[in-house]
Amino acid sequence: MCGIIGYTGKQKASPILLASLKRLEYRGYDSCGMASLNGNNIIVVRKGTGRIERVNAKVDFLSLTGKVGIAHTRWATHGNVTMENAHPFTSCDGEYALVHNGILENYVELKRQLVEKGHHFTSTTDTEVLVHLIEENMKQAKDIIKAIKETSEQAKGAFTFLLLSKKSGDIYCFRKDSPLIIGVGENEFFASSDMTSFLEYTNKAIILENYELAILNDECTIYDLAAGKEIKKEISTIDWTAEQATKDGYPHFMLKEIFEEAEVSKQALDQDPAKLAELVTLLTQAKNVYFLGSGTSYRACLIASIYFAKLCHRNFMPILGSEFKTYQNLFDNETVLFAISQSGETADVLEGIKIAKSKGAKVVSLVNVMGSTIMRESEQFLTLNAGPEIAVASTKAFTSQVLILVMLAYALNNQLAEGKEHLNEVIFQFEIIMKQSDFIKELSKEVLNKQNLFLIGRGVAFPVAMEGELKIKEIAYIHADALAGGELKHHTLALIEPGVSCIALVPNDETKDDMINNIMQIKARGGIIIGISSEKLDIFDHYIPLAKVALEPIVIIPILQLIAYHLSILRGNDPDFPRNLAKSVTVL
Ligand code: AGP
Ligand code: GLU
Repeated sequence: MCGIIGYTGKQKASPILLASLKRLEYRGYDSCGMASLNGNNIIVVRKGTGRIERVNAKVDFLSLTGKVGIAHTRWATHGNVTMENAHPFTSCDGEYALVHNGILENYVELKRQLVEKGHHFTSTTDTEVLVHLIEENMKQAKDIIKAIKETSEQAKGAFTFLLLSKKSGDIYCFRKDSPLIIGVGENEFFASSDMTSFLEYTNKAIILENYELAILNDECTIYDLAAGKEIKKEISTIDWTAEQATKDGYPHFMLKEIFEEAEVSKQALDQDPAKLAELVTLLTQAKNVYFLGSGTSYRACLIASIYFAKLCHRNFMPILGSEFKTYQNLFDNETVLFAISQSGETADVLEGIKIAKSKGAKVVSLVNVMGSTIMRESEQFLTLNAGPEIAVASTKAFTSQVLILVMLAYALNNQLAEGKEHLNEVIFQFEIIMKQSDFIKELSKEVLNKQNLFLIGRGVAFPVAMEGELKIKEIAYIHADALAGGELKHHTLALIEPGVSCIALVPNDETKDDMINNIMQIKARGGIIIGISSEKLDIFDHYIPLAKVALEPIVIIPILQLIAYHLSILRGNDPDFPRNLAKSVTVL
């Protein structure tokens, strides 16, 4: 999903837009662009393909002189990555420039109609249709608010956009499905996909809901287009700092966020007791509970589901966000959907929430971003308290998700105190593992040039291995494959030949003996074993030590994150901006 930012105030807009755009780059980095109203009341557009710094070196964004402007960093969904398809787009008459986050599902038909009416398009994107549709609607409406309202009724899909008007010098900020937050500064306003982009200027924010339109000039006026009236909205204070959204001396956000895990985990366990008790009651009384998450958050669901089974003898089935429709008939007014999402904006999960609620199910969630859509769609929620997670690869949010969910499982079983003791042991071990980063980097070289890399685990260590697989694929671009140890003999053993590497997760629990058998099966065929265990077994070719603690599989998580991080660097990748991916997938 893209990042959009707008600014209007007393300062030159382009330096502020450029700094804010860099803070949004994790949302997409195929191309970027900026539009500003210059002194002659002309909308000037600069754009290009590639990362922001590279485009800026070519087009010099700071040459834009206006005090009002919009900017965009793209994650392409419709239309190739080309200069022509970079946002912003302008209307035929040059009156408007627009940037967009989302997908216009009916853009082909709308574009056909607009071409028939004489509109000239310069791109193959869905987005460009929006600015021409507004222009067309203005011909009849003669009122921009009315024209935007008509556009919002004609368009289908997710279309959060910023529209810069030459005539008024205003920015029209409209939200439909993709997030949009207004930053309220001293005589200046911001509009952004993510509040961290303007945190260095203000921590006062207004979160727009669907079909709300904010008009920014030297004031901020908000309309509820569905209700057809102006509304007043609460200005909330963001409890994150701009500092938290910087690398703070680390080479990459990802490494910083891994190293934050011990500290952040303590905040994760520090939940409001009343909110925790309320959620425990709801989960206890629910007839059926289903987890819902995508990507790494889905892996947190898998891990949590095992602990609820082991500790509480409850089957909280995990459902993959994008697969929700397949299971929708399970949901009724006796069901609870437990959505897990760092960003709180994942479209697959939001789609599931909408369907579940339509069937009468209750929705609760665990999110990191306060005010996020999933949080606001939930009857109850807990927050990760992890601070902003900027790297595309989710690390500290994931460990916090796992710790909170395991704490919930202990609480559901009336063992909260014991659970916290075990989890504090895990947090202590996180600190120990951070000190092993250089050792893990050296060991990662063993698998650096492997085209295939296997990870095996059993019990909780199996979904932990799945998360290791996801990270190694996501940022090292190595085809990793995680499997339950017991499955080896059913298929993957056919791929084991001399020199094939396998990371074996061998916690000191009920899975250990069976894991040793699996390792022997691999060794018998010449496979190379990297053992992660609290015991240095002779069968390991390489060994990463674990401490003997009750929740060893969870302690393995940062080890796998560091392996993925170091492999990414060793292979010359940028772990913060993995190719083709984006931090929060707000499109289906
Ligand atoms: C994880 O490293 C990925 N960035 C991705 O799988 C992510 O976990 C997924 O898109 C879900 O995001 P969410 O937690 O914000 O919902
Ligand atoms: N659909 C628009 C495009 O492809 C916006 C994409 C997005 O929000 O990620 O440019």
